Amino acid sequence: MHVIHNVTAREILDSRGRPTVEAVCDLADGSRGVASVPSGASTGRAEALELRDGDPSRYAGLGCRKAVASVNAALQPALRGRGFDGQQDLDAALIELDGTPNKSRLGANAILAVSLAYARAAAAQRRLPLYRHLAEMAGTGLAWLPRPTINLFSGGKHAGRQAPIQDVLVVPASARTMDEALSMTYAVYMSAAERVARKYGMRLLRADEGGQAPPFPNVESMFEDALGAIEAAGLAPGRDVVLAVDVASTHFHGSSGYDLGAETLTSRGMIERLAQWVEHYRIVSVEDGLAEEDWEHWPALCAALSPRALVLGDDFLCTQPERIRRAIQARAATALLLKVNQVGSLSEALEARDLACQAGWQVTVSARSGETEDHWLADLAVGWQGQQIKIGSITQSERLSKYNRLLQIEAETGLPLAAWPSAAGLRGGGRL
Ligand code: PGA
Ligand code: ZN
Repeated sequence: MHVIHNVTAREILDSRGRPTVEAVCDLADGSRGVASVPSGASTGRAEALELRDGDPSRYAGLGCRKAVASVNAALQPALRGRGFDGQQDLDAALIELDGTPNKSRLGANAILAVSLAYARAAAAQRRLPLYRHLAEMAGTGLAWLPRPTINLFSGGKHAGRQAPIQDVLVVPASARTMDEALSMTYAVYMSAAERVARKYGMRLLRADEGGQAPPFPNVESMFEDALGAIEAAGLAPGRDVVLAVDVASTHFHGSSGYDLGAETLTSRGMIERLAQWVEHYRIVSVEDGLAEEDWEHWPALCAALSPRALVLGDDFLCTQPERIRRAIQARAATALLLKVNQVGSLSEALEARDLACQAGWQVTVSARSGETEDHWLADLAVGWQGQQIKIGSITQSERLSKYNRLLQIEAETGLPLAAWPSAAGLRGGGRL
């Protein structure tokens, strides 16, 4: 039992300089948890509502004073002095106090900040590191550290739409430790920067998550430049380092189809194109290959790409249990991109994770494009046995705080990096 002495919140700024919510939870025994929430830009329609002030005279309407007031004026009096048996008990109370299906009254940003701060306080009361507390919450032991998938090049909404797709990521496939994974990625990132300078005459400009964003003439050049950068770093593409992609196709899908710049493709055409890219560039994970509401074609996408590549749903699933259930039934994906703030509480995110695991899917735990220095995401990925983690590039402190936390957890636990799906049991095996 954890008795809440107080909960408070305040506005802090995220990696884009926009306000977000930080909450503090104090328990009666003096244990304290502090946590802050991230924010997306390339958001899915089914996400829980992030409450913003809408006052154009302050942060272009993006202020979070209303969400802060949800904590200080609504949740605080309701929670003070109350005891909770665990995370689920607390989250159920938060959801009931909000009373809407998408957390639109109090705001998912307010609710999640309190949910996370409580988890930290409960871990502190139990004198456990957060990742162990989260592992117990999930009923899992500690098995591995998530293998990082790391942004190299960006287009779409995270850059200036130089290319329609959002991110090309590198996966350090042969790395056995987090330390090795990060040093390999550094070598690739630096050789990519040299290539970008030579080819596009551009100094290193970074997109929201730290990806490099030169004026690529088309999508294929993003993949080719990524493979070239891997080779130039003295590593073998397809063996040491492989590629993953976040297509984020909802954001270039319109009434006439998928707008790739020079051409517009139907859903079937898009599936064929993705299958060619997977084959040609040895891509091992394809996120949001089709638009979030293109339910009809996701099963065909899944059949075309798996088991060679993970068929990963981000905007498509929005970490929402009902959407995940429906996708499992329809055989529409093989992996869940888990973003806790898409659903708005730890317990609901855990339910999403459990559904994915029970279906034999992989779980890629993901940061948002707007992040803070808080590193609970690293603990969550380890504690909930995410096989992959997607944090962004290796260049900005809001990203590095999570990589550094993973290094710390690696030093504390000596856990190995998760194997890629072939070894982790994905139907038919993976490509590595
Ligand atoms: P977001 O996007 O955090 O800007 O929504 C990240 C992603 O699409 O994976
Ligand atoms: Zn995405």
